[in-house]
Amino acid sequence: MVFAVVRFLHIIAGIVWAGGAILMNLVVGPAIGATGDTGRQFAGHLMTKTSLSKVMLGSGMVTVLAGTYLYGVNSNWFSSGWMQSGQGIGFGIGALAGIIALVFGFMIGNTNGALTALGAQIQGKPTDEQMAKMGMLRKRQVLVTTVNTIATIISIAMMASARFLG
Ligand code: HEM
Repeated sequence: MVFAVVRFLHIIAGIVWAGGAILMNLVVGPAIGATGDTGRQFAGHLMTKTSLSKVMLGSGMVTVLAGTYLYGVNSNWFSSGWMQSGQGIGFGIGALAGIIALVFGFMIGNTNGALTALGAQIQGKPTDEQMAKMGMLRKRQVLVTTVNTIATIISIAMMASARFLG
């Protein structure tokens, strides 16, 4: 019964988290980038005045904690041969990718915070130092977003197919 409830929570939270990450990274983020000042104003509101960060952090944590419990029960707390079966390896790869996605999700949040803080500091024309910092933060944003997207897709793909791997 506990397993069924945790599995239910895992799947619902996983759908919210992974779907949210893919939509943000592939649709909303690029739309923000393409719409200049309006986009920046929208992004500022989205990051600071809505529950987006809390929803993403909360659903990500529930997915990983519940998933770790499910993996623990299936593997007799990381001791049974299930871990070497096709299913065990499949869920293991999906789990690892999910944990990487969570870590890079945190990094996206931090980088967004640093970009917002820098944007608020810039009054009028940015200094050379501010331009250099902005360039560095934007590069980091592209890197962490790309890793987050790829890890999320791998996690979803493995979760959807692992049980058929024997
Ligand atoms: C990207 C986020 C994730 C999504 C959308 C997701 C979704 C799912 C779904 C739909 C299932 C049911 C699969 C089936 O019964 O055939 C499942 C099962 C499972 N997930 Fe995830 N998952 C995610 C991340 C994770 C993570 C991070 C872990 C571990 C830390 C994990 C561990 C597991 C385990 C062990 C099962 C097997 C449960 C069982 O035996 O029924 N998942 N997941």
